[in-house]
Amino acid sequence: MSDAMTRGTALIWVSGASGGIGRALVATVPWARARVIGISRRQDSVSTEHIEADLSDPEQWPRVGAAFREAVTRFSGDRIVFVQAAGTIQPIGFVGNVETRAYQENVLLNSAAPQVLGHLFIEAVQDVAATRHLVMLTSGAAKSIYPGWATYGAAKAGVDQWVRDTGAEQGPDGVQVLAVAPGTVNTEMQTQLRATTPEEFPMRQKFIDLHRDGKLSDPNDVARKIWDLLDEPYDNGSVLDLRNLPEVRTPASA
Ligand SMILES: NC(=O)c1ccc[n+]([C@@H]2O[C@H](COP(=O)([O-])OP(=O)(O)OC[C@H]3O[C@@H](n4cnc5c(N)ncnc54)[C@H](OP(=O)(O)O)[C@@H]3O)[C@@H](O)[C@H]2O)c1
Repeated sequence: MSDAMTRGTALIWVSGASGGIGRALVATVPWARARVIGISRRQDSVSTEHIEADLSDPEQWPRVGAAFREAVTRFSGDRIVFVQAAGTIQPIGFVGNVETRAYQENVLLNSAAPQVLGHLFIEAVQDVAATRHLVMLTSGAAKSIYPGWATYGAAKAGVDQWVRDTGAEQGPDGVQVLAVAPGTVNTEMQTQLRATTPEEFPMRQKFIDLHRDGKLSDPNDVARKIWDLLDEPYDNGSVLDLRNLPEVRTPASA
C-alpha cells in the first residue's frame, strides 16, 4: 500500500464484517482516517459503526441503500469503498436434497444481494468526485465443479459476470468494480466444509487436507492483499484470483 493511498479520508462499508475475511478487512483498513461501517446480522467488534441486516432478506436491502446515500451526502473525503464479503456456503448438499428455505436464503444472499447492493452503492456514489471502489468477494467455485455447492458456484459465476458488465459500464473514470477470489482462507466457512458428510460434499477431503497441512490462508493476510489491489491499474470489471494475479501495466512499464 503506497503512502499516497493511505493518506486522506475514507468512507468504507464491509458486508460480512462480523466474521472471517470481512472482519479481517475491517481490522486492516489501510487509511488512518476512515469511517468504517460493518454490515452483518451479528455485531462486529472492529468497525466504527455497524448496520445490523440480514442480507438474505430483500426487504432489508433498501435500508442499506439509504445508509449508502445518507453517508455519501455527508462525506467530503477522497475515497469511498464497499466490499461485499457477506456470503454463505450453506446448505451444502445436492440439489433436490437440501432444505428449501436454506436454499432460498443462499440464492438471495449469494446471488441477488450482491447485485442489488452493488446497484444501490453505484447509485449513491456515481456523481461523487471521490475515488470509488466496489469489490465483490467471489470464489474459484465460479469456474470449478464442486458437487454439493451448485447454488454457491452459480452465485459466484453470476457475480463475476455482473462485475465484468458493470465494470465495462463504469469505464476508466467510473467506480472501480472488481471481483476477487481469495483462495482457501481459514474462516468459519472452511470449518463448515470440513463438518459435512461425504454424501453432502464428496470433495470434502481436499479441504480437510488443506487444513491439516496448514495450507489455508490467514484472513488478515488475505485482507491486506485485497486492500493492496485498489489503485492497481486493473481493467475495470476484472475478475481476480489472489493466488494468480495478472501482471498490471503501469504507465512506466506500458
Ligand atoms: N473462506 C474461504 O475459503 C473462501 C473462499 C472463497 C470465497 N470466499 C468468499 O469470501 C466471503 C467471506 O467468506 P468467509 O470465509 O469470511 O465467510 P464466514 O467466515 O462464514 O463469514 C461470513 C460473513 O458473512 C456474514 N453473513 C452470512 N450470512 C449473512 C446474512 N444473511 N446477512 C448478512 N450477513 C451475513 C456473516 O455475518 P453474520 O453471521 O453476523 O450475519 C459473516 O460476517 C464470502 O463471500 C465467501 O463466499 C471465502
